[in-house]
Amino acid sequence: MEKLIDLAKQAAKNAYSPYSGFKVGAALLCANGNIYTGCNIENSAFSPTVCAERVAFFKAISEGVTDFVAIAIVGGKEDIGSEICYPCGVCRQVMTEFCNADGFRIILPHKDGVTELLLKDLLPHGFML
Ligand code: THU
Repeated sequence: MEKLIDLAKQAAKNAYSPYSGFKVGAALLCANGNIYTGCNIENSAFSPTVCAERVAFFKAISEGVTDFVAIAIVGGKEDIGSEICYPCGVCRQVMTEFCNADGFRIILPHKDGVTELLLKDLLPHGFML
């Protein structure tokens, strides 16, 4: 878990967020042991902005990896990782598409330690076709 958190912090350094000034990093652990990282990437037209979590998921899925265990997420304007950075609703829905809500772990470091939640805690009754 420490490794996943470290990788999320490293990824946050690559955030492109000149409009919000908010850097986010994510590290996604897959069942095969691979770890994919992501950072938020903003855009002057705003709506093309993508969150760190979705970058990590889409990197994995685009390489054919679709079995996920856990994601560590950090974010902030400064002192990244000192306050919890919860994933946005859109990212929770993307997780719902690919992850078991009872098993997928969301690891949220903060200044007092690490909070770990399951996807079902963050998005109960996620939309599924
Ligand atoms: N952001 C993420 O990367 N992940 C989230 O779950 C919430 C928000 C980014 C998007 C934007 O670049 C910045 O944080 C401020 O909203």
